[in-house]
Parts: sequence; structure tokens; C-alpha cells
Amino acid sequence: MRELHLLTREGHLNADALRKLKQVNHLMGLMRPAVEDVKARHPESAVFVDAGSGNAYLGFVLYELFLKDAAGGTLLSVEGRPELTERAKGRAERLGFSRMSFQTAHIDQAAYPERIHLLMALHACDTATDDALIAAIRHGADHVAVVPCCQAEVAAQLKEQRAAGKGSMGLLYAHPWHRREFGSHLTNVVRALTLEAFGYQVTVTELTGWEHSLKNELILGRRVHRDNRRARVQLERLLAETGVNPKLTRELGVKPAASGATELPAEPVAEAPVEEAPVPSEG
Ligand SMILES: C[S@@+](CC[C@H](N)C(=O)[O-])C[C@H]1O[C@@H](n2cnc3c(N)ncnc32)[C@H](O)[C@@H]1O
Repeated sequence: MRELHLLTREGHLNADALRKLKQVNHLMGLMRPAVEDVKARHPESAVFVDAGSGNAYLGFVLYELFLKDAAGGTLLSVEGRPELTERAKGRAERLGFSRMSFQTAHIDQAAYPERIHLLMALHACDTATDDALIAAIRHGADHVAVVPCCQAEVAAQLKEQRAAGKGSMGLLYAHPWHRREFGSHLTNVVRALTLEAFGYQVTVTELTGWEHSLKNELILGRRVHRDNRRARVQLERLLAETGVNPKLTRELGVKPAASGATELPAEPVAEAPVEEAPVPSEG
């Protein structure tokens, strides 16, 4: 923690550090089953990716807890700001975390390993969370864990919908504040449903108490099917009915449903054991 400057010279945690540490600790706890699953299946070749890693706190904690003493496994941090990449690189060298690597790149342009086993993104801004999910889906990630940040794209699309004179559902987002909140909610609904459409079993839960972060929604996905036709049709209908089409669905080629009802395909049969949803913390 000293190396990460989370502890002051006197050995105390400052308030920002404490907040960040709580988020990272909670996330680590909720991701533990996924990390252990990856390690069990790929003990020497596990590939973890942290997208929009910032100071890479999440990566350092994951490496310390799960990779430092393991037989193998690598962790790639992708970050757009070169000064943060350089600083994190120096820290990893000093800590001897030799299987951590760092790339300065946009999440949608980074050079990823062909196969990712777990991709995580903690508060990757706006559509950067979409870019992280696209990378996960394209590289067949077994597990994903994203905690989205602020979101603006869908709110702007909702504004256009309103201008186009949609029905009374438009009242849900007539005011800019409601549009921001509803846009953010709808974005995350689309994210969860997109993961399902691409074969993931999804859990949406609270990361930590609101006092630690307002951006507090955790979307966990575990790949259990090649794809899920039912979720795909539901997603296409949702896009058509709300009139939005965020970067995530555009890039993955998901189109709003054409008018005329398509029958909803049956629920796919689970191919992997269903995990219990984490219980949200109180307050
Ligand atoms: C709010 S910070 C979170 C950092 C870290 N994940 C954490 O929780 O401590 C978001 C980080 O994502 C980076 N970022 C945002 N959009 C990005 C993109 N498209 N490509 C790469 N990095 C991006 C920013 O530079 C910033 O460091």
C-alpha cells in the first residue's frame, strides 16, 4: 500500500485512498469465484485484463492476492494516459510483479492476447465500458466484471427520441436529470442483455455502499453458452422500442428489431452451474 501511495508517510490511509481501497476490496471479493475458476482451468496460462486501469490499483491487488505465488498467469493493464502507464510500470518493477504488463492505448485499439480469460473494468468512463465489453466478447473472455462509470451517449439518443415526439414513455426522461439517470440505467440494461445475447450468464449487483461511490453497479458475466437467441431477440426489441443504439450494440452488429413480432425463442438450457447472486450490502 505504501508503494501505491495508499498509505501516508505516517502509515495512515487518506480518505480518497480508503474509498478506493473499499471499492477494490469489494470487487475483489465478488470476483473471487471467477478468478479462482480461471486459475483452476488455466493454472499456468491465465490471462487477466484490466481495461481503463488508471493507477492499476485493481491489478496490483489481484496480482498480490492471486498471481504472485501462482505457477503462471499474466495481467495486462490497458490505460489511455501514458503517465499512468509509466508510473504503474515502475511500481510493478519495484514490487517484482514480472507477469504484469502495461499498455498505453485506447481500450478499443489495444493489442490484446488472442484469448482473454477474465476482463475487468472499474469505472471506465462513458463508452470505454462498452469498448471493454466488446474486447471481452471478441476475445472469448470466460468472465467479465465491469463497474460502469458516467454515461452520456444514450441520454443524448433519448433526447433525440423525445424531439421526434415519442409517446408517454418519453415522460420518463423529459427532464435532463431524469434523462441522465434513465439513460444510465438503460445503458446498463443493454450491457447486461448484450452479454446474455453473447452467451453470458449475468449477475447485476451493488458493488459497495453509496457512501463510497455513486457509480456502484457491478455487472458480472460468466460465459456458459455460445450465444443466446432469446436474449438476442429481447435485446433487438428493446433497442427498437426505446430508439437507442449505443456503441456496444452498434459495434457488435446488433440491430433494432424490424416491426412485426418475432416469436421469442425458448430459454437456453444452462450449460454450467448457476451461481448464487451476491447479496447486496445494506445501506
Ligand atoms: C475513473 S478512472 C478509473 C481507473 C481505475 N480503473 C480505478 O478504478 O482506479 C478511468 C480511467 O480510464 C481511463 N480511460 C478512459 N477511457 C479510456 C479509453 N477509451 N481507453 C483507455 N483508457 C481509458 C482514464 O484515463 C482513467 O485512467
